[in-house]
Amino acid sequence: MPSYQRPPGTLDILPEEQPYWTRVRHHATHLAELAGFERLDIPIFEATEVFARGIGEGTDVVDKEMYSFTDKGGRDLTLRPEFTAGVVRAYIENGLHVEVQPQKLYSMGPTFRYDRPQAGRYRQFTQFNAEILGEQDPAADLEIMTLVWDLYAGLGIPDLEFQLNSTGCPRCRPKYVEALKSYYQEHDDDICEDCRRRLERSPLRVLDCKEERCQPIIENAPRIVDYLCDECREHFASLREYLDLLDRRYVLNHRLVRGLDYYTKTVFEVWASGIGAQSALCGGGRYDGLAELLGGPETPGVGVAIGLERIVMTMKELEVQPPAPRTPKIFLAYLGDRPRQESLKLMDQLRHVDVGVYFAIGRDRGLRSQLREADKRDVRYTVILGENELESGKATVRDMKSGDQTDVDLKLLVTWLSEKV
Ligand code: HAM
Repeated sequence: MPSYQRPPGTLDILPEEQPYWTRVRHHATHLAELAGFERLDIPIFEATEVFARGIGEGTDVVDKEMYSFTDKGGRDLTLRPEFTAGVVRAYIENGLHVEVQPQKLYSMGPTFRYDRPQAGRYRQFTQFNAEILGEQDPAADLEIMTLVWDLYAGLGIPDLEFQLNSTGCPRCRPKYVEALKSYYQEHDDDICEDCRRRLERSPLRVLDCKEERCQPIIENAPRIVDYLCDECREHFASLREYLDLLDRRYVLNHRLVRGLDYYTKTVFEVWASGIGAQSALCGGGRYDGLAELLGGPETPGVGVAIGLERIVMTMKELEVQPPAPRTPKIFLAYLGDRPRQESLKLMDQLRHVDVGVYFAIGRDRGLRSQLREADKRDVRYTVILGENELESGKATVRDMKSGDQTDVDLKLLVTWLSEKV
């Protein structure tokens, strides 16, 4: 057992894993920019208030999962458990609301939640996040949803389907909550303790209960779509029409309420088939009241966040291969001090013309050990320099596939190698 281990719920992403990450990051950035999203980077920590107000007191994220601390200046800060509240804070603070609307912003980086660690659930994880701020057109919801759909499809994840619901707005939701509460009152003896508490603090979340005894009750509970006001109903209908138009499959999921308080109207998730029932590949929705809640002007918004760890897990399960990383194809071996110096110069020259190269690092190594390393590094050519080669003005270049050796004029060596690899 090593003396130190990484904290529970964190990952070391080793070099052999990096090709998956590079592929996902590049693909996400490419699609975001193709759709006119611009990158926004925000701090990893914010005033705790931003999340407490934005995500909502009473949510699991705020009540149980935040990494909060007081800094040496007495400020209450929190490691971001998500991007949305911070992005909206930055939108207001930097006056992005007076720029061209809507603002389409994407971000990517570590997020932190004191969650129960298990497969696909970590305490430090990575989100790719996209938001469209300043527009209530359901076409904005559609753009967010096509972005994630295309991301998964382009990475080779098949059988996609959105879980979709509308959570209404402050005008129509209270009527639904009333109906839900009175329905639950009729079943008070049959529900779990947690649901009883939820009914007081955040009633919609009873629909998300996993307790066996609550399942039949949820099944027959009133559905929010039957209580939507005209505006919310039309918004939801248009979005579904657009999804049909572009052939993005969805199922209406009346239980989908999501765990963050800022949502209005659209909420959606994409579930992974292989990594456990609780694992959403992504989640998002509309949050038309969030900017005001954070002290900004009235600004509609819609967005999504994708957990990159879960995509990588899914790719591995599906045996989707990422492109191999680009590693140097040339190895420089040498024998003796002067050849070692010449090899160092050669290394420098090759890298300056953008040719990747390994130098045989290590003092007093025999040629055999250097060639063994070259073999393990899977290079195409090994250049061997010794006193003889320097005298004759020709390097020995070994083709590592065929084992053939060629003499190449030292003056032409950089050009020769750069043409070969
Ligand atoms: P969320 O559903 O809390 O939404 O998280 C989005 C995604 O982050 C999840 O679907 C999952 O892939 C990943 N995720 C969440 N928690 C963990 C964890 N403990 N370990 C690994 N992955 C995790 C949000 O964060 C909203 N801000 C999304 C949004 C953006 N809504 C509007 N705009």
